[in-house]
Amino acid sequence: EKGGYDYFMLKEIAEQPKAVADTLLGRIDASGSLTLDEVRIPASVLREVDKVVIVACGTAYHAGMIAKLAIEHWTRIPCETELASEFRYRDPILDQRTLVVAISQSGETMDTLMALRHAREQGARVLAICNTNGSTIPRESDAVLYTHAGPEVAVASTKAFLTQLVACYLVALYLGQVRGTKWGDEIEAVVRELSDIAAAVDTVLETMEPVRELARSLADKNTVLFLGRHVGYPVALEGALKLKELAYMHAEGFAAGELKHGPIALIEKDLPVVVVVPSPRGRSVLHDKIVSNIQEIRARGARTIVIAEEGDEAVVPYADHLIRIPATPTLLQPLVATVPLQVFACELATARGNEVDQPRNLAKSVTVE
Ligand code: M6R
Repeated sequence: EKGGYDYFMLKEIAEQPKAVADTLLGRIDASGSLTLDEVRIPASVLREVDKVVIVACGTAYHAGMIAKLAIEHWTRIPCETELASEFRYRDPILDQRTLVVAISQSGETMDTLMALRHAREQGARVLAICNTNGSTIPRESDAVLYTHAGPEVAVASTKAFLTQLVACYLVALYLGQVRGTKWGDEIEAVVRELSDIAAAVDTVLETMEPVRELARSLADKNTVLFLGRHVGYPVALEGALKLKELAYMHAEGFAAGELKHGPIALIEKDLPVVVVVPSPRGRSVLHDKIVSNIQEIRARGARTIVIAEEGDEAVVPYADHLIRIPATPTLLQPLVATVPLQVFACELATARGNEVDQPRNLAKSVTVE
């Protein structure tokens, strides 16, 4: 049942190109328009939405952080992403014009369920992004967009995350389409690029051997830090979460711009620091700032593990280890940048003799608050 792999997690990492392609299937027509008929919230209601609130936990929350950037950029609707476990305890401001998006692989996460119940009580519409047909969260929502990752068995979420991202991009683009906001060349180009993204994920998977080797060489480390900016920040958080849950190592993700506000004090000789570098095209200002961050931490002795787009030469002099990913539009980069971090955590867990599919103290779906 593991399809020849030692662990479900390895199988599920390998299934990502298909999971991504399946989640896109039938949702973009030949003219590049989105056909999300399952989103049974009328277009007239979606046009009136004045705020989007995303609630989720763990890895799904990281997908939600990326969704916020996509939704605000493509639709200009204010959007916030919140940990489902915090949401209902702070008396959030919600009404009929709020669209709440609840993201959950299992559809049974109690924190997320309680958040969406609270949202509906306040009159908000709830759209679920979910991987499990007929589970509680989609049943209690106004509409659902299913991710087609197939069953995810390993506790650590991998293919579900990538498909959650795809679903989030589809929702963002769909909102843009329905509302006619910024539905221009950029969005059309992104829709086209999304169709090629499964192949890009496949390319990453084919080049993972050096990442595995690197992970094995770090098996006796205590701490790994992760840095990113913009969409790379949630990717850094996701890389750190994977390492915590699988390798039981101290791992932390930071927004790279925050380094100088404190975390840089942690940098010491030989500390492994993974840096997710934004594309030098697109938001080139951020790219240049991150390159300076890499220089700063390296000057203080960090061992830099740099994830950068193919053709980005500026990072080469400062990377102790360089992991290449294919060039993508800025907002889509997490689909390729996360994959090496999954492989990295899985291999480190194996090297440390940990149980990869069933990490200690964790359950696949958390059905208690
Ligand atoms: O089933 P859900 O997507 O609602 O689960 C949310 C989190 O519990 C889940 O993503 C968890 O963080 C994973 N173990 C991370 O790998």
